[in-house]
Amino acid sequence: MTPSMRKRGSGTARTGLAVAIALGLAVPLVAVACAQSSGGGSSQTAPGVQATVSRTPSFTRDVAPIVQRKCSGCHQVGGVAPFAFDSARAISSRASLISAVVQAGLMPPWPPGARSPAYVGEDKRTLSAQERATLVAWASAGGKTDGPARKPLAPKGAPVREGERVVEVGLPTAYTPSAQPGTTDDYRCFVLDPKLTEDVSVTSARIDPGASKIVHHVILFRVPPSQRADAAQLDAADPGPGWTCFGGTGISSASESLNDADWIAAWAPGGQGGRLPDGTGVPLEAGSEIVMQVHYNLLNGKAPDRSSAVLTVAPKSAGLEDVHTILLPAPVELACAKGESGRLCDRNAALAELARKYGVEAAFMPPGLLYLCGRSATDVKPSPVSICDRRIREPTTILVAAGHMHLLGSSIRLELNPGTPRSKVLLDIPRWDFHWQGAYTLAQPVHAEPGDVLRVTCRHDVQRRHHGAHGVPTTPRYILWGEGTTDEMCLGLLQVTRG
Ligand code: HEC
Repeated sequence: MTPSMRKRGSGTARTGLAVAIALGLAVPLVAVACAQSSGGGSSQTAPGVQATVSRTPSFTRDVAPIVQRKCSGCHQVGGVAPFAFDSARAISSRASLISAVVQAGLMPPWPPGARSPAYVGEDKRTLSAQERATLVAWASAGGKTDGPARKPLAPKGAPVREGERVVEVGLPTAYTPSAQPGTTDDYRCFVLDPKLTEDVSVTSARIDPGASKIVHHVILFRVPPSQRADAAQLDAADPGPGWTCFGGTGISSASESLNDADWIAAWAPGGQGGRLPDGTGVPLEAGSEIVMQVHYNLLNGKAPDRSSAVLTVAPKSAGLEDVHTILLPAPVELACAKGESGRLCDRNAALAELARKYGVEAAFMPPGLLYLCGRSATDVKPSPVSICDRRIREPTTILVAAGHMHLLGSSIRLELNPGTPRSKVLLDIPRWDFHWQGAYTLAQPVHAEPGDVLRVTCRHDVQRRHHGAHGVPTTPRYILWGEGTTDEMCLGLLQVTRG
């Protein structure tokens, strides 16, 4: 909490603002899924940490099992990676490239940095120093094969537990994505009906991407019966299945608040069906629908997709603890870089542009966020660093942490009680990559008491637009919080139970 906020005693989410914020949110995150399996423990050592390998590793005995466990989830036929590690030859012919990417820490993709705590399933998603050394030693000895590679395992969903049942939802017809202007990405929201006749708790969600080569992540949002009409309207207004939703579902929600957002689950390639900790679940009312937001990355071409999701749900009578989603947004105020000029480098012009593109409410977001985070909305100081502190108001147990920015993001951190002896980093992503957004289940849930402070810190880099990479628009402009690809966000998300 900033001193000015403490003085004014603000810092709580105000309903009107909360609604506005919830409206504009894009919450592309991934991979509770990737972090599903148990184990925990921070096994990923920093690249460069040496482990020794005493003999030349055997391909079949040593190398193939590592590739199968840690790489084939994505590197399979039709998978999100550009090539499959589905034969000894396919692996061996890329030995030196494999060695290079694992030494550089680029593969497997795992955004959390060394300051992050341990996450559930991390050891299944990252290489240990020993595994890395084995791959490198094998490659430098020539990357030879001495037998077959094992076939990758098909991803499995979370097992169904006693009292639970499976609910399947999916696109009724195929959708062929097309990139939104200036990007290589398409965000599409589809309404799915889980046909719930009773209140339930969702305990796990596994996504089966139809066109897995292009599905980069999927988020499930709940739509209570009171909002079904809004969802239907959005669907009807956009031709083809679903509607474009780069920034968020676009569904208005009176019940929405920063402390209880409408997020159910998220998934990314390599994920196996994220399960929430035992005894917890996301409540879903009878008659609710689910909006499935799919992020298609079209760098490798496009294809018709019919993604689906398999949920496990427990009846309300099972008495699971409700999981809530806390949103931690921070204002984004990025001035044009030195030497840049243009009409939209003026903040007022940029605000007017937001209103023109997304409606007047969009222009209330930037001042609303400044106010929420205890800063002056009249004397605005642009900065590449966005920070917001918020005080926790009731006993809370933090289970899952995630962050979200757009294409100009460069790092994001979520922490509890920063700068105090009780400070705890919940998530630290030192090198933000828009294509590997994630939600991470803490190996040790973190308890917070009323008065504790949650902080989100984001860094953005407007210089990224000079590279124009990944469809970053190059026109100079003052960047504010907004829905579009050309706008930015700084958003932390936490899944918590109360108590
Ligand atoms: C979560 C999905 C995922 C996992 C797991 C994964 N990869 Fe990849 N890999 C990708 C994607 C996607 C690309 C294409 C580049 C990109 O988008 O980052 C890629 C690219 C590569 C490349 C090509 C790099 C280049 O510069 O051309 C190599 C080599 C590679 N991966 C090796 C591995 C190895 C070895 C493992 C396991 C230790 C692994 N990958 C695990 C998704 C994954």
